[in-house]
Amino acid sequence: MTNILAGKKGIIFGALDSQSIAWKVAERCVEEGAQIVLTNAPVAMRMGEINTLAEKCKAPVIPADATSLEDMENLFRKSMEHFGGKVDFVLHSIGMSVNVRKGKSYTDLNYDWMQKTFDVSAISFHKMMQTMWKLDAINDWGSIVALSYIAAQRVFPDYSEMAESKALLESFARSFGYHFGTAKKVRVNSISQSPTMTTAGQGVKGFHEFFNYADKMSPLGNAPAEDCANYCVALFSDMTRFVTMQNLFHDGGFSTMGMNPALVK
Ligand SMILES: NC(=O)c1ccc[n+]([C@@H]2O[C@H](COP(=O)([O-])OP(=O)(O)OC[C@H]3O[C@@H](n4cnc5c(N)ncnc54)[C@H](O)[C@@H]3O)[C@@H](O)[C@H]2O)c1
Repeated sequence: MTNILAGKKGIIFGALDSQSIAWKVAERCVEEGAQIVLTNAPVAMRMGEINTLAEKCKAPVIPADATSLEDMENLFRKSMEHFGGKVDFVLHSIGMSVNVRKGKSYTDLNYDWMQKTFDVSAISFHKMMQTMWKLDAINDWGSIVALSYIAAQRVFPDYSEMAESKALLESFARSFGYHFGTAKKVRVNSISQSPTMTTAGQGVKGFHEFFNYADKMSPLGNAPAEDCANYCVALFSDMTRFVTMQNLFHDGGFSTMGMNPALVK
């Protein structure tokens, strides 16, 4: 530990249980000296596990449905009250596909559900940033990160409409990165993470087989959630102040591979 986030204040979206990537990011940020606020959808609160994390991190939990502008505004206002000032970093770690959940195939999607999927998984990122922009809620040289997946660029059939959600999410990072960079030197990036054993991950059909496939294809193996948390800490720290508008692959080399003899065997 280096205390690399000493004095920094951040908001972590999306810690559901101890497998969640956001859970590990919250733990690592606090270990590195940051103060945080935790948030998740009110329905996720019912599981109650987030309170364990909150105790461990000495962090308040402020519920917010990320699709609701009202909730978003309340979250940032209350967080600034709690911190006595603006935030320095934010993690968007939210994903959910209604069509995948309901077992609809890609050639038979329900468009109302698709809109809900895009709202939860991608437009929420824009809503989050627009709220921060309007409330002037982030300090100069702050850092905003969202978690993505390589299905934004390549076809993984079982990922369904989440592929388009991630493409949209990554595009919002670039477009808002321009505005935040110009106005406030704030950086916006997405991290494209390896398959990871979490509630959202395992909701995708054939996930275990796919997890093993990606693990073999990647020279370093799949990147674990703990290492994704370390990467987030690096992006929140002052060591990466000029990295912005990027989609950064954290995948053990998967995205650059064509064929791996280990898989043919
Ligand atoms: N698990 C993987 O294989 C993998 C790989 C690459 C990227 N990701 C991305 O990482 C992020 C975190 O997912 P995870 O794998 O840790 O799973 P997770 O299920 O632990 O986290 C998903 C979170 O989204 C939250 N959420 C859903 N609807 C919401 C709403 N309306 N408002 C606020 N929060 C809401 C859930 O409550 C949950 O905490 C997601 O963006 C996911 O797509 C996951």
